[in-house]
Amino acid sequence: MTEKPILVGDFNLREIEELKVLARRRKALVLAHYYCPPAVQEVANFVGDSLGLSQTAAASPVEVIIFAGVHFMAETASILCPEKKVVLVNPEAGCPMADMITYKGLAARKMELPGAAVLTYVNSPAAVKTLSDMCCTSANVVPVLKSIPAKTVLMTPDQNLAAFAQKLVPEKKIISWDGFCPTHHRLSQRILNGLKVKYPEALVAAHPECRPEVLATADFIGSTSAIIKYTKGETTREFIILTEQGIGHCLRLDRPDAVFHFPEGMICPNMKKNTLADLRRALETLSPEVRVSAEIRRAALAPIEKMLRIT
Ligand code: 13P
Ligand code: SF4
Repeated sequence: MTEKPILVGDFNLREIEELKVLARRRKALVLAHYYCPPAVQEVANFVGDSLGLSQTAAASPVEVIIFAGVHFMAETASILCPEKKVVLVNPEAGCPMADMITYKGLAARKMELPGAAVLTYVNSPAAVKTLSDMCCTSANVVPVLKSIPAKTVLMTPDQNLAAFAQKLVPEKKIISWDGFCPTHHRLSQRILNGLKVKYPEALVAAHPECRPEVLATADFIGSTSAIIKYTKGETTREFIILTEQGIGHCLRLDRPDAVFHFPEGMICPNMKKNTLADLRRALETLSPEVRVSAEIRRAALAPIEKMLRIT
């Protein structure tokens, strides 16, 4: 177990300032997910969860967005704002959960489930979104699910988010895809119990991508931004955080008086591919750009926009 934040890359203040100046010169908006290395979060104009990042991308008047996150996040931004240039800081940063579902696979499953609506987590490829009635993130899954008229809903691709939603919305019959996030799914009840014994005073906050048996004993379950809000609102000074360690940067800035314990290995290797060197290159070259074909974009936009209207 470790309670130390993992700092990836140099936390070099001069370099951070230089990159901020470069971003201003390029008139670019730098967006970063909470799981990115702390130094990259420091350069960003906005750090958020996947919902907040999409909303910020859509609302901003800028022409260039530099995205520090994973591919599906930049793709979603590009679908929402095709007139903007969306650059992914590291083109190798994908999401293994998003890769656990394909257009062909979902098309075949839909044939077996006539009458079921399809609710797709944003952690998915754009082509899969085109076959979906609505999209959701972990921040809005409950209101989005409740807004769907069909009783039977196929939730893709995360089985753990589906199980979490089923508990909160029992009136729906949820059938789930069998995808998962390797970073969150590896966490077991045994590991959590060990942390609870070690830190008996700590409150436990978990991301819904964790297994149901892990979520069962958490004090709070929510998206990354919801976890940050939760720890800010509590007076307790000790927390066990069951999500990616990058979030620790914001948690510690907001609650310098508190201690945050993370299970060992809660690291998304893809988010950590967003280094300061990559960010510099992206700002200098304004590439690689993430683009979606007009046909896919049109069809993927509808379920994303429906989600944003509910939120
Ligand atoms: P959030 O929507 O909470 O930011 O989560 C995104 C993600 O990829 C979690 O693994
Ligand atoms: Fe994908 Fe998991 Fe990484 Fe989130 S933490 S980007 S779901 S692999």
